Amino acid sequence: MSPLILSIESSCDDTSAAVLRGDRILSNVIASQKVHEQYGGVVPELASRAHQQNIVPVVDAALHGAGVDRREVDAVAFTRGPGLLGSLMVGVSFAKGFAQSLGVPLVEVNHLQAHVLSHFIKESDESAVPQFPFICLLVSGGHTQILLLRSHFDMEVLGQTIDDAAGEAIDKAAKIMDLGYPGGPVIDRLAKEGNADAFHFATPNIPGLDYSFSGLKTSFLYFLRDRLAEDPDFIEKNKADLCASIQRCIVGFLVKKLERAVKETGVRQVAIAGGVSANSLLRGEVERLGRRRHLQVFIPKMQFCTDNAAMVGIAGYFKFLQGDFADISLPPYAREN
Ligand code: KG4
Ligand code: ZN
Repeated sequence: MSPLILSIESSCDDTSAAVLRGDRILSNVIASQKVHEQYGGVVPELASRAHQQNIVPVVDAALHGAGVDRREVDAVAFTRGPGLLGSLMVGVSFAKGFAQSLGVPLVEVNHLQAHVLSHFIKESDESAVPQFPFICLLVSGGHTQILLLRSHFDMEVLGQTIDDAAGEAIDKAAKIMDLGYPGGPVIDRLAKEGNADAFHFATPNIPGLDYSFSGLKTSFLYFLRDRLAEDPDFIEKNKADLCASIQRCIVGFLVKKLERAVKETGVRQVAIAGGVSANSLLRGEVERLGRRRHLQVFIPKMQFCTDNAAMVGIAGYFKFLQGDFADISLPPYAREN
């Protein structure tokens, strides 16, 4: 029988635990932290405190939801990094203690690899998974990369942002408009009622398959500053149009480079992953790209876009199969190098 894997994710502000039997998901419980909303961003100290409060009930709910007893667990997978050190520490310590008390192996997982590998989570025997090689656009709050996957853990970076991540740019645009945190889902929702042609923001001109979002953020800021000088209610009156216009610019840029990567590599399978892959315009545009270029496209289910432990479990499962276990002394890491 395939191994039963308990997985833990605590890299930022979501405390999550999942149970997988091999590549089949049995449960995936996510406790999102509301405490950060009033501060307009994640407060690291508060995040680790909330993880400490959430971790035991979340793991308990994941085991319960999967209908398994903790003594049946064959391995514990955990996110080792990158992320907020204080947040990671809670999940890593919990995973170590849990595995040690059961006498089962530990598997360390890289958060970004987990986002990409979320496409291999199976909810049924019919679940379609990508074949190698495939291209994955990884877009989250901290990363924006175009990856070429030759196997589960062979991920070549074809292009990436040279400054801000796409999610960061969206969140900053939302913050400038005072839309709350995280701004991505709010912009997505408001944009549906707006006109994307109302305002024009130039697509950054960056060579190759790389991205850059910091100039866009600055031009958005200056644009609004000038308009607000003429009309202090400018943002309030044009909120939906502003959201639709900035979203179209960012998504257009993301898809333009993704299409270029497809053309340059000749790879016929394309996936998107990470928090920003929850964006409805991006999902639609990637579907359209697939139809236009006759590609097979993989769009993750909503629950697997933003941070979740199921993706850690699937990455942990593939490492388990390779016998790639972690030592109990391994510390978390905030950055990759
Ligand atoms: O992957 P994730 O949950 O955390 C990181 O690893 O960073 O990504 C979070 C990012 C945030 O920037 C959030 O605003 C963005 O994903 N996001 C969205 C949407 N949902 C989440 N951005 C645009 N549209 C959405 N619907
Ligand atoms: Zn993430």
